[in-house]
Amino acid sequence: MKNNRVKKRDGFSSKFGVIAAAAGSAIGLGNIWRFPYVLGNNGGAAFLIIYLIAIVGIGIPVMLSEFSIGRMTQRNAFGAFKQLKPKSAWYLVGIMGILAAFLIMSFYSTVAGWTMEYLYQAITHQFQGQDTVSLDLHFKEFIASGTMPVIWQMIFILLTSLIVVMGIKNGIEKSTKILMPMLFVIIIILVIRSITLTGAGQGLRFLFTPDFSKITPMVILEAIGQAFFSLSIGMGVLITYGSYIQKDDNLIKSAVFISLSDTLIALLSGIAIFPAVFAFGIEPNSGPGLVFITLPNLFNQMPAGYIFSIFFFILLLIAALTSSISLLEVVVAFVTEQFHWKRKPVAFVLSFVFIITGLLSTLSLGSWSHIKVFGLNFFDLFDWTSANLLLPLGGLLIVIFTGWVLNRKALQKEILNGEEKRQWLFNVFMFSVKYISPVILFIMFLFGLGLFS
Ligand code: PHE
Repeated sequence: MKNNRVKKRDGFSSKFGVIAAAAGSAIGLGNIWRFPYVLGNNGGAAFLIIYLIAIVGIGIPVMLSEFSIGRMTQRNAFGAFKQLKPKSAWYLVGIMGILAAFLIMSFYSTVAGWTMEYLYQAITHQFQGQDTVSLDLHFKEFIASGTMPVIWQMIFILLTSLIVVMGIKNGIEKSTKILMPMLFVIIIILVIRSITLTGAGQGLRFLFTPDFSKITPMVILEAIGQAFFSLSIGMGVLITYGSYIQKDDNLIKSAVFISLSDTLIALLSGIAIFPAVFAFGIEPNSGPGLVFITLPNLFNQMPAGYIFSIFFFILLLIAALTSSISLLEVVVAFVTEQFHWKRKPVAFVLSFVFIITGLLSTLSLGSWSHIKVFGLNFFDLFDWTSANLLLPLGGLLIVIFTGWVLNRKALQKEILNGEEKRQWLFNVFMFSVKYISPVILFIMFLFGLGLFS
């Protein structure tokens, strides 16, 4: 490749580093906060089945496509399409991804702010003695209160940009490798406590006994949207990260490893939450507050709950950071590579823009709650449209590009690392990106736009 900019790109020090970072992007609030609340809103087990099918059938192929495009071109999402199809409009996929990054960061940083507040409340013993009614009330009062949610959100965004400024390799790698396994362990502990509560059975049935009559096009769309959101696909995060993956790394193994870890964490968090939801008499369709009302209850019922609650919220915050870093990185990589600006000023200027857009989400739960677009406040609007429209649309375009536009030989070389074996895996992948994923995503997209009903 003749381009000398490539050499200067920030890389990862170890082989596992970039895979760890991509896993860190995938694992975050999407698994522990969004997955349970969306599943609860969509009736439980039936949603779970569609979600799992979407991960394997669409999610992994899209992830593999993004990794290949990124590694092939060594570019950010926008630059990658520009390089592969210069005189075409495909770069718009990259632009859409940047738009998605702003929308997602807006509400993501709101929820990350709640996580910081709950960490503070955990440390200062504020959960003790509270029951479901008072926890529910306090959550609602807090998110509507304005000042503190905004301050936490700003701190979170500044922390994110600080890590992005330090560069990819110093920032993300270490935290993911050590702290994600710790998060896994603490969720297992929560699972054990939750399933041994009296009345836990009802929650497990909600999660695992499907009522197929509950499957509607909207449930399918939300399950696909959640799969995209949780895997960080459909907006170029993994194109950007893919560009840092080393040439001899196995892309198939990496995509499968990341998707499985992400799904495992989501499943476990479901098993930790729903038995407790039913045992404590919380409505499973309580919306975005579900986890924040349920978990303090659970900590109150645990030996050493005080310590666990502090650890849990610290780890959740870090998981949120390794995801928000990837959102900011998409935009930073775009600006620094396309306009040749320096990383530091770009990251700081962007964090101010993110703070402004973030305010829309946070304040829409309080003093701006009267402002509605399509009947939704900004928080719900950004959450819904990014996960259920923008990411699946991005994914649709990415699989069409991979299946129908990209040179098949070059793609095969990228995915199989130039080797002859595992040809059948590549054929399965091609069949999915050419036919299965585009057709399903196209139909679901029409439902999402309300063109079908
Ligand atoms: N996947 C992240 C999570 O589960 C959220 C995210 C979505 C990050 C899209 C980047 C891009 O928390």
